[in-house]
Order: sequence, then C-alpha cells, then structure tokens
Amino acid sequence: MTTWHDVGAEADFEDGCPAAVEAGGKPVAIFRVEHELFALHDLCTHGAARLSDGFVEDGCVECPLHQGLFDLRTGAVRSAPLTEAVRSYPVRITDTGRVEVGV
Ligand code: FES
Repeated sequence: MTTWHDVGAEADFEDGCPAAVEAGGKPVAIFRVEHELFALHDLCTHGAARLSDGFVEDGCVECPLHQGLFDLRTGAVRSAPLTEAVRSYPVRITDTGRVEVGV
C-alpha cells in the first residue's frame, strides 16, 4: 500500500537542481524537468553515490561516481556500468502546492 509523504512545497524544487529529501524513512531524490516532478531512491544501485548529486540530461540522471544513467521516469538503466534499475516512487502535487511522494 502506498503512503504519501509531504516532502516540501512545489516551489522548493527547481529545474535542473536535484534535491535530497526523506520520505517514510527512505532517502529520495526529487527531480524537476519543466513542469514534471520525478522521484528516485537516492542511492545508486552500483555504488555509494547519491543520485541527488547527479546531473540531469535528456530525461535521465547521470550518477556522479561512474556516470551511469538512470531514466528519471522509471528508474530503468540507460547506460553502463549500471545493471540494476533504481526504485522510482510516484509523486503528486496537492491542491495547496505541496509535493508528496508515495512510498
Ligand atoms: Fe553510480 Fe557507479 S556508483 S554508476
């Protein structure tokens, strides 16, 4: 069952500036691409790197450690050296402009 967790105001998340938050005790990286928000588990599946420290381009986040690419929308692997997808979480914006992540 999904439980929704408030992680901040919509205005807190800027295009091209990944943010590290916590939702339900889990580290989550939030990405804004234009008007859409995406949430991925904030730990690379290849090593000890935070995806919230990564670089966003073409719908992917590039891991800061070995430059593997994950799809922002699904968490799927888009390039080596990654072999395992990262968990993605649903995101919603409430009527009052709060961002919630489902964990
Ligand atoms: Fe992320 Fe190696 S730790 S690609």
